[in-house]
Amino acid sequence: MNSFMSWVGGKKALRDEILERMPLYYERYIEVFGGAGWVLFHKPPGNDFEVYNDFNSNLANLYRCVRNKPEQLKNELRYVLDSREDFDCIALLHKKGDFKALTDIDRASKFYQLIRYSYASGLDSFGSQPHSMWSDFPVIDMAARRLQKVVVENKDFEKLIRQYDRPVSFFYCDPPYYATEDYYADVGFTKEDHIRLRDTLLGISGKFLVSYNDCPEIWQLWERPDIKIERIERLNNLAQRYDGGCQYAELLISNYDTTERKNLFKQMSFLDDDLKYYEED
Ligand SMILES: C[S@@+](CC[C@H](N)C(=O)[O-])C[C@H]1O[C@@H](n2cnc3c(N)ncnc32)[C@H](O)[C@@H]1O
Repeated sequence: MNSFMSWVGGKKALRDEILERMPLYYERYIEVFGGAGWVLFHKPPGNDFEVYNDFNSNLANLYRCVRNKPEQLKNELRYVLDSREDFDCIALLHKKGDFKALTDIDRASKFYQLIRYSYASGLDSFGSQPHSMWSDFPVIDMAARRLQKVVVENKDFEKLIRQYDRPVSFFYCDPPYYATEDYYADVGFTKEDHIRLRDTLLGISGKFLVSYNDCPEIWQLWERPDIKIERIERLNNLAQRYDGGCQYAELLISNYDTTERKNLFKQMSFLDDDLKYYEED
């Protein structure tokens, strides 16, 4: 299923590639840099224990309200106006850091309006696009159902990873890409945090998969014998207008064999073909 929101750096386009590479067996799934949770929403729910985390407290509050109070949230959103004046007022409140004084539902509704009505979900400038909040209600309901058993955390990645690490844990990490740290001004990710993330992950007993932009700094940080780095190219949708066919490369970095799942499906389809052959005989 889809996420109920868009978010800068959201992994909608990469979610199939990531799902295909998840370990075959794990008991805890932890999405460390949650954002819009495109991978979590795409992942079928199972018997595993699932955690959504983001250090942005407005996001964590929105997720808790969607999960626990979807009706109240929809009521609050029912009569909001898609207007530049209202947007600018809310954006100013957000910029001044005054969201924390609001009730959880008011805060969630205002943050959702910022996401929905801003240009490219950048939260600060009005997008001038007609959009009815009512059309979002079915997706909010679906997200509420999907999140029922998901733990929502609001921690810095290092604390979270240490807390949930076990041999049966699987961490999917989608940190701010190198040189795009400023896009997430609310939480203030720094260049040193990339090193801190690597060092934290190298010390865990569970498995991890990290997605990153393909750049020399990230190769330098992660290239080592016990770590697998896979380069994935996909069409750069933003550049298609002026450079048709332009590709964008991303890295998937892991500490386990990411081909387990694909190999199993391949073996199963061979088995299927064999069975068909014998049945036809
Ligand atoms: C690239 S986005 C994640 C996008 C997400 N995978 C999706 O599909 O929408 C990175 C996220 O990391 C969060 N973040 C930044 N610093 C963090 C930290 N120290 N600990 C945890 N989350 C952090 C940001 O708030 C942002 O939502």
